[in-house]
Amino acid sequence: MSRQLKILLLGAPGAGKGTQATAIVEKYGVVHVSTGVMLRDAIAQKTALGLHAKKAMDAGKLVDDDTVNGIVAEKLASLVAENKGFLLDGYPRTLVQAEALEQSGQKLDIVIAIDTDDEPIVERITGRRSCPKCQRVYHIRHKQPKVEGQCDDCQDTALVTRDDDNEEVVRERLKAYYELTEPLIAYYTRQGCLVHVDGNQPIAQVRDQVLASIEKLK
Ligand code: AP5
Repeated sequence: MSRQLKILLLGAPGAGKGTQATAIVEKYGVVHVSTGVMLRDAIAQKTALGLHAKKAMDAGKLVDDDTVNGIVAEKLASLVAENKGFLLDGYPRTLVQAEALEQSGQKLDIVIAIDTDDEPIVERITGRRSCPKCQRVYHIRHKQPKVEGQCDDCQDTALVTRDDDNEEVVRERLKAYYELTEPLIAYYTRQGCLVHVDGNQPIAQVRDQVLASIEKLK
C-alpha cells in the first residue's frame, strides 16, 4: 500500500486493541501509537508526566485531555515530518480528544471499532500478562508464550501483570469507556470512516477481519 495509512483502533478495555495492533504493524509497517504504553513508560521512568498520570490510571479513570493531547500532538508531528503512517490505540478516547486530533489536520483513513460483550472482558484482563520491555501482550489461556512467564521476543524477560489489571479497576475502566469513549463510535460513523469488527471471536478471526477491512482501502 503506497500511501501512509492513518488508522484508529477503538474498543473497550480488553477488546484486543493492543493484540490486533501487533498484526497491523507487522503487515502495514505503520507506527503503533498507544497512549497507554506512553503513559506506563512515563510512570516507569518516574517522569513528571508519569507521576501526574499514575493516580488516575491506578483508579481506572482517564488522564486529563490536555495532558494526553499534548503528548500525542508531539508524537504525531514527528511521525508526519518523517512521512510515516500510524496506528492510534487508546487515543482519542473522549470527544475533546477527537476534536483536538481533527483540528491538528490529521485525517484518519479508517476507524476500526472492536466490539465486545462485557462478560469476557474481566477474564481477559485479569489473565493478561505483558512484556515490560517490548509491551507484547499474552494471556494465560488465550495467548500463551512459548515458555511460561517469559516473552517470546525479549529473551529472559519475565512477563508482568499491569497495575490496573485487577477486577475492581477494570470495572471502573469499563465505566469510563461507556461514558466517555463510546460516543466516539457515533462521531466517526458520522464522518463515514468507521467499520465494526466482532471482537468476541477468537484472536485469529478478529485479526483476519481487521486486516480485511484495511485491505478494502486499497
Ligand atoms: P490503555 O493501555 O489504552 O488500556 P485500555 O484501553 O484499557 O485497553 P487495554 O490495554 O486494557 O486492552 P486492549 O484492548 O489493548 O486489549 P489487549 O489486546 O491487551 O490505557 C490504560 C489507562 O491509561 C487508561 O485507563 C487511562 O487511565 C490512561 N489512558 C490511556 N489513554 C488515554 C487517553 N487517550 N486519555 C486519557 N487517559 C488515557 O487484550 C487483553 C487480553 O485479552 C490479552 O491478554 C489478550 O491476549 C487477550 N485477548 C485479546 N483479544 C482476544 C480475543 N479475541 N479472545 C480472547 N482473548 C483475547
